[in-house]
Amino acid sequence: MKIRTIKINGFMGIDDLEIQPGALTIIQGRNGSGKTSVIEALKATLGSGHDPSVVRIGADAAIAQIDLDDGTTIRMRVTAKATTRDIRDEKGRKITRSAEYIRSITDALSVDPIAFITAKPADQLTAFLEAVPLRLEAQALSFLPAKVLTGISLDRHALEVLALLDRDLRADRQEINRVAREKEATAKQLAETLPPEAPDGTNWSEELARLTKEYLALREATSEWKTRILADERGNADAVKQTFHQEREKIRAGLESAIAVLRSNADAAIKKREEARDERLSVIATERDNRMRNLEIKYTPRQQELTLAQARAQELVTAQAKSEKTREFIISQERDAGAAREQSDAVTQSIGKIEALKRSLLREMPIPGIEVKDGVLLVDGVPFARVNLARQIQVAIELAKLRAGELGLVVLDNLEHFDSEAFSAFRVAAQASGLQFVGARVENSDFVVNTDKDPF
Ligand SMILES: Nc1ncnc2c1ncn2[C@@H]1O[C@H](COP(=O)(O)OP(=O)(O)OP(=O)(O)O)[C@@H](O)[C@H]1O
Ligand SMILES: [Mg+2]
Repeated sequence: MKIRTIKINGFMGIDDLEIQPGALTIIQGRNGSGKTSVIEALKATLGSGHDPSVVRIGADAAIAQIDLDDGTTIRMRVTAKATTRDIRDEKGRKITRSAEYIRSITDALSVDPIAFITAKPADQLTAFLEAVPLRLEAQALSFLPAKVLTGISLDRHALEVLALLDRDLRADRQEINRVAREKEATAKQLAETLPPEAPDGTNWSEELARLTKEYLALREATSEWKTRILADERGNADAVKQTFHQEREKIRAGLESAIAVLRSNADAAIKKREEARDERLSVIATERDNRMRNLEIKYTPRQQELTLAQARAQELVTAQAKSEKTREFIISQERDAGAAREQSDAVTQSIGKIEALKRSLLREMPIPGIEVKDGVLLVDGVPFARVNLARQIQVAIELAKLRAGELGLVVLDNLEHFDSEAFSAFRVAAQASGLQFVGARVENSDFVVNTDKDPF
């Protein structure tokens, strides 16, 4: 469905004008020459509401009429009081519910390619998502754990949902990998601090008990022997002293009778006995010392050996207990790290599936090269604002095409926004689109309407 004729009367700067628009109609002229007046007349006729300021000063009413190629006529009349839109079919029969009819054939007016190109990125994204309303079914995401989906509404645009999921999954995986790395590092560090294994798996606690028992027994035996040696010494010494006393008493008894003669003999004899006594005592003491020394020589080395062995065994008992705990901790760290790695792999798989889903959605996307990432509209992987104007125009026109109603009309004011190169790109994209374009562009010339050869 196309517009064949536009007639405008007493509308803003236009007194009386008739246009036969083609596929691409460009109105050009100086500032104030009436270009916007034409654009606004079209918008008002195919729009709704009432704006009395469009009635040209001095006129009773502003009138605009659009004739369609199927014979339909849409006529708008604006007076100071009201706006009426009268629609008739090819046989001149009045079509009731004019507003509904207009809504059913037009929508493209809401996407103005220039407004789209110059809009803020956030508004561009909204306009794009409205034009391509893709939704994801919960079924398509059933491979994800329910936890990942909480807080993400499937009422949002599919590309937005996928971008959010991708962001969340990547954040999850980063955290899981961090935990895994931490646990692996702890396990490795601890493994390096472990002492070498105790040889032949000896139970060092039992060995220590056995050595301690042997040590105590030896100490007891040694002390018994010492007691016995001292007792022997005492017994022998007592016997010698006893003998001495008896002999002395005997000698003294004899001495009484032969004091004078024998005194010197007796003294000598006593002296002799004393010497013998001392000699015997000294022999006994020497014997004691020798026996003591022998005892020392016999048992001391083993005693020292046992003390050292005891200390070593004690060390090993402590080390063994400590190693056992560390080993258990290492095993638990390694187990945790393994679980985290498995979890991370599962998330990687989910991310892959999200990407596959996105690729399949993008394949279905009516505008090739467009995607949404982190809330930014990308064209061929580059933010919309960064691609060249020609490509921006192409995308904007593709969007207009998606939004176009049956009438397929796009109106654009301010086409001077494009330099000559961009304007040529616009021209090519517009002609290829199959839509009907009516645009206005400031030129240093009189008001003129240029219509491309009608391709319809
Ligand atoms: N209701 C009206 N009655 C009379 N003249 C009007 C009315 N509304 C607007 N005009 C005048 O019509 C002339 C054309 O205005 P219009 O905005 O259509 O020009 P334009 O070609 O779009 O200019 P520009 O290049 O500056 O955008 C202007 O001088 C404007 O003041
Ligand atoms: Mg203007």
